[in-house]
Amino acid sequence: MDMGGGDQTLTAAPALPEGAPLRELPRLASRSQQAGVFEAELTAAPASTSFVPGLETPILAYNGITPGPVIEVFEGDRVSITFRNRLPDQESTIHWHGLPVPADQDGNPVSPVLPDAEQTYSFEPPKGSAGTYWYHPHPHGKTASQVYRGLAGAFLVKAKDDPIPASYGDTLFVFTDLRLAADGTLPESTMADLMNGRVGDHVLVNGQKNPVLTVAVGEFRRFRLLNATNARFLRLSLAGASLTLIGSDGGLLETPVADADELFLAPAERLEIVARFDKPGTMSLRTLGYDRGWMGPNRPEEAGKDLLTVRVSEDRGPSQPPLPGRLRPIPDLGPPAVTRRFVFTETMSMGAGGMEMGFLINGAAFHMNRVDVVSKAGQVELWEIANQADMDHPFHLHGTQFQIVERESEGKVTKPAFRALKDTVNVRRGETVRILLRQDLPGPRMYHCHILEHEDLGMMGLVNVE
Ligand code: C2O
Ligand code: CU
Repeated sequence: MDMGGGDQTLTAAPALPEGAPLRELPRLASRSQQAGVFEAELTAAPASTSFVPGLETPILAYNGITPGPVIEVFEGDRVSITFRNRLPDQESTIHWHGLPVPADQDGNPVSPVLPDAEQTYSFEPPKGSAGTYWYHPHPHGKTASQVYRGLAGAFLVKAKDDPIPASYGDTLFVFTDLRLAADGTLPESTMADLMNGRVGDHVLVNGQKNPVLTVAVGEFRRFRLLNATNARFLRLSLAGASLTLIGSDGGLLETPVADADELFLAPAERLEIVARFDKPGTMSLRTLGYDRGWMGPNRPEEAGKDLLTVRVSEDRGPSQPPLPGRLRPIPDLGPPAVTRRFVFTETMSMGAGGMEMGFLINGAAFHMNRVDVVSKAGQVELWEIANQADMDHPFHLHGTQFQIVERESEGKVTKPAFRALKDTVNVRRGETVRILLRQDLPGPRMYHCHILEHEDLGMMGLVNVE
């Protein structure tokens, strides 16, 4: 990456309207009449929207909107989605982030969809996979710009026997972030964006700035949170509500974890919570600030920003059953047959165009034709992700879900407080995270940093499962 020329000029961002009621994102409609079959189309194309009245913003959109339509299916459904790439001059793909789909349906960068071409992705979310996932493009070198221009959406897999009472509702918050130039356009990324990942000036929830959600006093509500930003770390509080953690990337936890006083979502992570509001009034889902090893000025992830306002009305909600004490079993994978180590580093060197920064795994940047790891289907493996760089790097693996075994930092080892199925985990600078996993489906799979600019710059590898 060239860091030779130019300074970062920050654009004066126009103010966005705030305080509208939180909108529900539109669902992607299935054209199949048959039960258990979901068939639809997603077209990625240039579109235009307006975040600030009077200013048009050219974006990229799935089916004309950003965030893209919410895909909602049941476990075991036969899903078939035809992707049409109408992005001028750009390859794209759709990657089903977190879903264990066959390798050739995964929207990997190794099988791009050319401009004007289309591809039908088919898969069945297996029994036990109910959870909050998402979809986004994954062409090599272009993922970051396609996502920040608008291509990302939520993908919900539901269970017919969901243990969370239906009266809790099911409200989705998709977090994206946005930087607007004074004329309403999306500016090009700066050098600082490439180094840190692009972080916008506004955090949006379902595409809105600080929208308002109204709830009834005393009622339980189920919320799903998805961090669909390129590079923003969300550490959040909702003071005035009691929060119980019930799920993460790959669906429900084994048991609820009560009294969560903060919520942490690295880029690409998801959480499910049950919230209860004991007093009428107004409260805010607010950033707590987080130090992720930012390089350069204008640190964006400071505390005290209100992302969502919750208005708690005096009217008592309906009477609701309590949350069950056990949510679902999470399988024990057993002892690993092999241990692998992945070291994340950043390098600075003099290149032809000036200073260049590299983002490497085990000393190498991603190469399309290189297999970094060969693994066996059905084999339990322990992966050790060591971050020896100056920034946090959220690690993501395709093809399966993993369980965090332990984290090690400055010689101190900590075990997770609860079991969860994950596909993305933040690895802090200087930290080593050990995860246990098993890939059941053969084929090429990616692992990478989910700061999308880092992924584009090569902080990615390929494991071939045989
Ligand atoms: Cu959400 Cu390989 O990515
Ligand atoms: Cu990274």
